[in-house]
Amino acid sequence: MKEQIVILTGAGISAESGLGTFRDEGGLWAKHRIKDVATPEGFMRDPELVLGFYNMRRAEAVKATPNAAHVALAALEAAHDVLIVTQNVDGLHEAAGARNVLHMHGSLARAMCVRCEARWDAPLVMRVTDTCPECGAAATRPDIVWFGEMPYGMEEIDAALREATLFASVGTSGNVYPAAGFVAEARRMGVPTVELNLEPSAGHSMFDEVHVGPASEVVPKWVNALCRS
Ligand code: OAD
Repeated sequence: MKEQIVILTGAGISAESGLGTFRDEGGLWAKHRIKDVATPEGFMRDPELVLGFYNMRRAEAVKATPNAAHVALAALEAAHDVLIVTQNVDGLHEAAGARNVLHMHGSLARAMCVRCEARWDAPLVMRVTDTCPECGAAATRPDIVWFGEMPYGMEEIDAALREATLFASVGTSGNVYPAAGFVAEARRMGVPTVELNLEPSAGHSMFDEVHVGPASEVVPKWVNALCRS
């Protein structure tokens, strides 16, 4: 039977591609304060610091390559209807060949204008003196959803969850809403839920099934089983 699968992914799926997670030991939030680099207020206070943080992450992301977990999820599209809802701002799902990817927290590859909200492909290095190609204001920022801002695609995600026959969560700690609430929404609608993570997440008891292990191992196994069913 063709399943309608919504897959939420987080930093854990890109960890084995060399991109740091946020809340694991030594993760990004151990080295940087969220309020300084991931809020609109932090950007207003010190745009140079914030652009520098994302320039560093963009430089790492362009060097990274997809791992077996990204590749397996992309392959799942051939057998089932899949929507990958990612909290990640890297482009590794697309690099692995996935076509149906929604970046709910934005993307390092895109820039936006604070003044007129125009969006365009970000240069590798963003500078405070850069100007908006639409309105000319020197007010450009990464097209990343910060704390206190509304994630992208919420209506599309809600609609996909309503239609889903399976919900999976891969490599996310389940700390950040609204993404952390998708499992409860899926359950409410009677959709089977599965977690694939290095360790059981904070909300693991909400899932019908939990597969523990590195994404590069557990995701291909899970995908193979789904493609056989
Ligand atoms: P976290 O750093 O909070 O969680 C990463 C999860 O991945 C943890 O549960 C780890 O156990 C797991 N993990 C680590 N290595 C793994 C591996 N090799 N295979 C499988 N799982 C592994 O990252 P997220 O949950 O993605 O938002 O964080 C959610 C949001 O919080 C991010 O999008 C970001 C952050 O603040 C914003 O910046 C707005």
